[in-house]
Amino acid sequence: MPRLEGGFGENMKVAVFGAGGGIGAALVESLADAPNVETVFAISRRGMNGAQCVAPVRCVDYTDDTIEAIAKSLPEIDLVICTLGVLHGDSFGPEKSRRDLSLENMQHVFHVNTFLPTLIAKQMLPKMKKNSKSVFAALSARVGSISDNRLGGWYSYRASKAALNMMIKTMAIEHARRFKNSAVIGLHPGTVDTALSKPFQSGVAKEKLFDPDFSASRLLDVVEKVGPMETGKIFAWDGQEILP
Ligand SMILES: NC(=O)c1ccc[n+]([C@@H]2O[C@H](COP(=O)([O-])OP(=O)(O)OC[C@H]3O[C@@H](n4cnc5c(N)ncnc54)[C@H](OP(=O)(O)O)[C@@H]3O)[C@@H](O)[C@H]2O)c1
Repeated sequence: MPRLEGGFGENMKVAVFGAGGGIGAALVESLADAPNVETVFAISRRGMNGAQCVAPVRCVDYTDDTIEAIAKSLPEIDLVICTLGVLHGDSFGPEKSRRDLSLENMQHVFHVNTFLPTLIAKQMLPKMKKNSKSVFAALSARVGSISDNRLGGWYSYRASKAALNMMIKTMAIEHARRFKNSAVIGLHPGTVDTALSKPFQSGVAKEKLFDPDFSASRLLDVVEKVGPMETGKIFAWDGQEILP
């Protein structure tokens, strides 16, 4: 991984939340290789086994208090990437029809996809570097775009990512008042070969199913390009803006 360009300085400190996931782990690995990244703080429910992380932080269970404690333990940060997300679990999958909706599953999906990233932003945005470029990025999904919804289905996942996009926009407006060199953005990583997409890969053309390392490097290209003009927006892995 070459150095992170686009206005980032030297000795960068970076935090990746959800570092144990497919894309999260690939991001940690790439970032740890960048010559101008001094420290990658990797935050995960499961901890990191890899030696790549310079200073791994383990968070056993995300709550208001543990997220606040993690943020307090970190220095000023140049780049935060939050990768938390869920699409399916042992006992549930994305809804094909309104008949599949259940309160318990909707609550779980919103908890992971919307509420936890929002609480992470609440605690981490005040920790961002103020006097030079800083970026807070949360992994969203193209299916969270309301105008792009032509197929229907996947109610909770779509709606939780749409709600995340609104949280990103709202956080971006407030953050810009004091942090003039910052961007708060959402990122769509493409369809990536991870545990999250595994059950849904059969209809995906081979060239459209990305390796996590490829996706991570394209996402970091986008992070390099954004600044205050782009704050509040959602971008795909190729830099194209995704409209709400
Ligand atoms: N893969 C795709 O095709 C695709 C497409 C569009 C968008 N995305 C988005 O990209 C992001 C990363 O997904 P991925 O493909 O890397 O999937 P993944 O391998 O399943 O990783 C999911 C991540 O979410 C965290 N997570 C899951 N359940 C959680 C819970 N109950 N509480 C707290 N954290 C939880 C995990 O963190 P730990 O480190 O703590 O385990 C992990 O980092 C997600 O936001 C996803 O919606 C993925």
